[in-house]
Amino acid sequence: MAYTRACSVNDVPAGGMARFKVNGEAVVVYNLADGFRATAASCSHVFGPLARGKILDGQRVQCPLHRAEFDIKTGEAVKWACFPPGVQLMNIFRPKKPIKTYATKVEGDAVLVDV
Ligand code: FES
Repeated sequence: MAYTRACSVNDVPAGGMARFKVNGEAVVVYNLADGFRATAASCSHVFGPLARGKILDGQRVQCPLHRAEFDIKTGEAVKWACFPPGVQLMNIFRPKKPIKTYATKVEGDAVLVDV
């Protein structure tokens, strides 16, 4: 584990997110009101691309595939796959699971992620 440059602070707009590769690991970097955060890039349900989802209330990321929602700070799954109707049947085999989060810090204009 070591802090590694993921991107420039200018690469992620305020309130937005973007996907980067850091030491071979795909991560999403978020630029939230209280600072930069980072999570795994893939949803823990069936690997949906979180960077193509939405940030809700400046705190949660919603997966674009089946709308699971994760707390960006903790990775907790606060809402599990629920769309389209019927997807819940798959949840027997894919139970609720958090996503990985990474410590982040800013040095100069660089966003560093501890991967
Ligand atoms: S892949 Fe993300 S909710 Fe299904």
